[in-house]
Amino acid sequence: MSSNRRWCIAIVFLAMMMAMVASQGAILRGNKKHPTLDYHCYDDDHELTIKVNETYFSDGSEKKCLSVYCRDDYVIRINGCQRSSKICEPDYTKPYPECCVTSC
Ligand SMILES: *[C@@H]1O[C@H](CO)[C@@H](O)[C@H](O)[C@H]1NC(C)=O
Repeated sequence: MSSNRRWCIAIVFLAMMMAMVASQGAILRGNKKHPTLDYHCYDDDHELTIKVNETYFSDGSEKKCLSVYCRDDYVIRINGCQRSSKICEPDYTKPYPECCVTSC
């Protein structure tokens, strides 16, 4: 009985951890309409212009390791590296998501 209960707590705890890790991947930012171009988003943090419904992937030519998606309501979704790889410095010479180094 008591070992059953321990299992239950362990599983709930695990599920919470997994939900945290999964939700950590993407960042949403609203109202990112490009100031001059129609049907484009502008990510001022990374100085990127992205067409509506399109995703930018860093290609290893700049010191970036992320993807940015432009939704048709001008909300951008930024994906970086997962937490487990954040302890490593990304390999900026590689395109996203290969630049997310998972072992170091
Ligand atoms: C973007 O995708 C949505 C949903 O699929 C669509 O309704 C909209 O027309 C698209 N916008 C552009 C500019 O392609």
